[in-house]
Amino acid sequence: MKAGNTGNGAGKKGVPHHSRIYSDLSGVYDHVFMPIFARRIESVVAGLDIQSNARVLEVGVGTGLSLDAYPPHCRVTAIDLSTEMLARAEAKRDPWQHRHIELRQMDALALEFEDGAFDFVTAFHTVTVVPDPRKLVAEMARVCKPGGQIVIINHFSSERPVIRAFVDLADPLTRVLGWSTRLRLGDVLQGSGLDLEQRYKTSPFSLFTIVEARKFQPPGAATQLRGTDQARAS
Ligand SMILES: C[S@@+](CC[C@H](N)C(=O)[O-])C[C@H]1O[C@@H](n2cnc3c(N)ncnc32)[C@H](O)[C@@H]1O
Repeated sequence: MKAGNTGNGAGKKGVPHHSRIYSDLSGVYDHVFMPIFARRIESVVAGLDIQSNARVLEVGVGTGLSLDAYPPHCRVTAIDLSTEMLARAEAKRDPWQHRHIELRQMDALALEFEDGAFDFVTAFHTVTVVPDPRKLVAEMARVCKPGGQIVIINHFSSERPVIRAFVDLADPLTRVLGWSTRLRLGDVLQGSGLDLEQRYKTSPFSLFTIVEARKFQPPGAATQLRGTDQARAS
């Protein structure tokens, strides 16, 4: 695992560490969440059209429940702030099977990548966990290339008032896990330069919504082709 400059602040004076909860939970995380989360991530990633050599960034990779989901023909950088969560992901990372995946310690709110570096930027069960979800989505959009895709799995507040009021009753409980039920999708997408393509649930009763959005590409702007697209075009 490569350590990023703005990495985990646990024990480091003056560096904020927003994911203490997940560091503390890392030992039990897989037992509690793996059965549901991993299946959902796999079905969402399988539905993406990830081309050969596409560059993928996952923010908040946690214990690495997504590692098996990414096809070996793409190149994945997966980051998390928590040393403990990343250590679990590293333990799952098979040097051969997951050789297309690099794990790095980094703050998702201050990504150390240049603008437009990635074809896909994903965040699974992470957007509500950070202290500034709008900043997180803005950072995801910044490092996504124009025309590239942002894929988020998260709970967002329902558009339907009755459901919203009902789910909000759980807010004090979910805050124990560091996330709020009150985040609205419209609020995080506002001003992000992302066009919402689809939002859906994998089951009607699921608390989680899958959001696929595309970074705005100015009309007439040349598509930044990568991988097989580039080979086909040449
Ligand atoms: C609920 S877990 C989700 C983990 C994984 N994506 C999954 O679906 O199992 C949220 C993750 O976000 C990470 N996290 C919280 N704040 C972060 C930040 N500012 N930068 C990077 N990762 C962060 C936590 O350490 C934790 O691993």
